[in-house]
Amino acid sequence: MLKEFDLKKDIKLDFTSGWSYDPAPESTDHVHIKDQYDHFIGGKFVAPQGGQYFDTTNPANEKKLASVAMGCDKDVDAAVKAARTAYDKYWSKMSPRDRGRYIYRIARMIQERAREFAVIETLDGGKPIRESRDVDVPLVAAYFFYYAGWADKLQYAFPGGNPKPLGVAGQIIPWNFPLLMAAWKIAPALATGNTVVLKPAETTPLTSLKLAEIIQEADLPPGVVNIVTGAGDTGASIVNHPNVDKIAFTGSTNVGKIIQKSIAGTNKKLTLELGGKAANIIFDDATIDQAVEGIINGIFFNQGHVCCAGSRLFVQEGVADIIRDKLIDRMQSLIVGDPMDKNTDIGAINSKEQLGTIQRYLEIGLNEGNEIYQTKCDLPDKGYWCCPTLVANVSQSSRLVQEEIFGPVLTIQTFRTPEEVLEKANNTPYGLSGGVWTDKGSKIFNMTNKVRAGVMWANTFNKFDPTSPFGGYKESGLGREGGLHGLYPYLKF
Ligand code: NAI
Ligand code: MG
Repeated sequence: MLKEFDLKKDIKLDFTSGWSYDPAPESTDHVHIKDQYDHFIGGKFVAPQGGQYFDTTNPANEKKLASVAMGCDKDVDAAVKAARTAYDKYWSKMSPRDRGRYIYRIARMIQERAREFAVIETLDGGKPIRESRDVDVPLVAAYFFYYAGWADKLQYAFPGGNPKPLGVAGQIIPWNFPLLMAAWKIAPALATGNTVVLKPAETTPLTSLKLAEIIQEADLPPGVVNIVTGAGDTGASIVNHPNVDKIAFTGSTNVGKIIQKSIAGTNKKLTLELGGKAANIIFDDATIDQAVEGIINGIFFNQGHVCCAGSRLFVQEGVADIIRDKLIDRMQSLIVGDPMDKNTDIGAINSKEQLGTIQRYLEIGLNEGNEIYQTKCDLPDKGYWCCPTLVANVSQSSRLVQEEIFGPVLTIQTFRTPEEVLEKANNTPYGLSGGVWTDKGSKIFNMTNKVRAGVMWANTFNKFDPTSPFGGYKESGLGREGGLHGLYPYLKF
């Protein structure tokens, strides 16, 4: 049995009995979602050649939002042809400065329609509106602006390198940051002179299709960006298409391995951004309240559907009790529920399947003998939900410590020395991100050098910036996205 926090024993402040917020739902009046969406190929919306559609639903109420085209091999082939033609005819011939202008235009149009994007992202995927409005969509615009700036300056990015585009990029993205991942993929590809075939995840295709509308309105030459919707088979069809020059994938480590195998021996370039199991390390000289906020943001942000989530907490023994108490206080105050409410901290789990995965892990944890605590929350009748969860008394070998859960589930372990925590932090198959909390700069440099992770945050967590490269070691992937480094995978020299 999962334990509920015992309010009298476990927490000092009972947020549940004092006061609560009135509902503050975001309006959907300004948003138009069509009943049916087709593929975006060669600058036009075209029906799927197999004639099939699938539903995308709102995970907060299980209601259907729209029918979306199911891509087959023929659709992918049409999209790749359109991308190749656009590459040969327009995009590779255009001056870099003009390419940049188109990307700036897309960035500005995203800003103009930011509210619409935020609402659709939240309806389709379940993340809190506060997050899609304040984090996802502003970052999407920022990535387009940033890469627009590089379009005519590539010779300065790689002095003496004479960089050239690759051709057609096939891009496959996940459901946790749907529009942001589309921006991470499309912006650098276009800035470097490539054309694109992108496939969004099957549970969250709508913001990519809205982006297609903007791309059409921005008057981008037809075929420069193509968006084909569908599930794993559609993704595999892009990966295996002989006329694609580069694959960029973000998603599960399992699918990443399949992709790597299937393109082995071809000339396709590959970037993989896969799972993670980040260690968030709190030393006893850290600013405690700031660290607690960072821990909360690190794992409960976006329901823990974050590859770089701070899912493993390591606390130095001297502050373990106080951190635990404050963490429980803060967890009790998190509002779980309607993602469209502006007060909501934790929205809906993205799909029934993902909720099933999280629940399976909690069962594994119970069978292993861990203490698992959940906050008590008042959940809607429909939809997929998981209350903030803390796993205590957990050993380094536990599957909850070793494997990616991708939900609002935090494990806590303690440590005495930097050497001990380094050993534990590095002991997973992953190496995407991590965090260190301390008052001492020297400790920060020591730890960030020795934790094998592509991204390390110090006294903060889950902060993103288009100028900063992002990517993993080990089974967390290969290649970097973002920053100057993010240009490199789309170029040959
Ligand atoms: P997934 O890896 O199956 O899906 C990601 C994308 O890949 C989707 O667009 C999907 O349609 C596509 N895809 C699936 N099979 C494919 C194939 N054989 N070839 C080409 N494309 C394919 O991820 P899933 O099943 O939705 O989530 C499972 C687990 O993966 C999660 O519990 C989480 O641990 C991890 N994950 C990690 C993400 C990250 O940001 N690194 C994002 C999403 C999931
Ligand atoms: Mg959906």
